[in-house]
Amino acid sequence: MFDLKNKVAVVTGASRGIGKSIAETFAKADATVICVSRSEAPLQKLANDLNATGGNASYRTCDISDGDSFATMIKSVVGEFGQCDILINNAGVTQDTLLMRMSDDQWSQVMDINLKGAFHGCKSVMRPMMKKRWGRIINISSIVGITGNAGQANYAASKAGLIGLTKSVAKEVASRGITVNCIAPGFIKSDMTDILSDQVKEELLVRIPVGRMGEGDDIAHAALFLASNEASFITGQTIVIDGGQIIS
Ligand SMILES: NC(=O)c1ccc[n+]([C@@H]2O[C@H](COP(=O)([O-])OP(=O)(O)OC[C@H]3O[C@@H](n4cnc5c(N)ncnc54)[C@H](OP(=O)(O)O)[C@@H]3O)[C@@H](O)[C@H]2O)c1
Repeated sequence: MFDLKNKVAVVTGASRGIGKSIAETFAKADATVICVSRSEAPLQKLANDLNATGGNASYRTCDISDGDSFATMIKSVVGEFGQCDILINNAGVTQDTLLMRMSDDQWSQVMDINLKGAFHGCKSVMRPMMKKRWGRIINISSIVGITGNAGQANYAASKAGLIGLTKSVAKEVASRGITVNCIAPGFIKSDMTDILSDQVKEELLVRIPVGRMGEGDDIAHAALFLASNEASFITGQTIVIDGGQIIS
């Protein structure tokens, strides 16, 4: 197991799903974990549960689509904990519909949270990470950002955008000890995929060579590796974690 001792990690979208798994895994690896989302109750419960099981966790409510709120949240984390070493830009939403029916609002909401939210995050942590000459940013993209998907033009564009954002920021900050990487999950059990019909789930399962849906932990373990000291020579990359779904 990789060790995140003395590291402060901010995980967005930690109230449930993949973000919650990442927060739990990072707490087990001895990081101080700040759990972030818009709704307070699940964050408070998660932080309490992590602290009750030997972890060191705290939480902040923040709408990541608002740049000022993200910057203020990171300032308060640095104010309280003295540093912000790891940022997981995980929070994301879907607003699925065919392009011909997609409204401007459906396009903008998905872009503002999934892509602009990560831009706000990267910008907000730059100073504290540069000051320490150490940092890890991990953006949670999707295989749909690589392959595209009918009915998800907004979501796929936001997730493809994250890959470009990752590569560009990685080049800008590599000499400062900061790595920036992406994880592109496939079909992972969470509230986001629970809404799919049984028929759609069965059709998707047939396309996964490993023969199962992914778990939050499948993503969290890769995030832990990328966040560790041991991954210092990996930057600008996208790791696909999909049970083989898009092997080409
Ligand atoms: N599940 C999959 O199969 C899958 C596959 C590929 C990629 N992904 C990506 O993985 C990430 C996590 O997905 P998930 O399946 O765990 O989704 P989820 O269960 O729906 O959780 C989404 C999280 O994001 C938070 N969030 C949403 N909008 C936010 C905002 N404006 N500001 C702050 N927090 C916000 C939610 O909390 P609040 O609502 O309380 O704010 C929640 O904690 C997403 O980026 C998703 O696109 C998931």
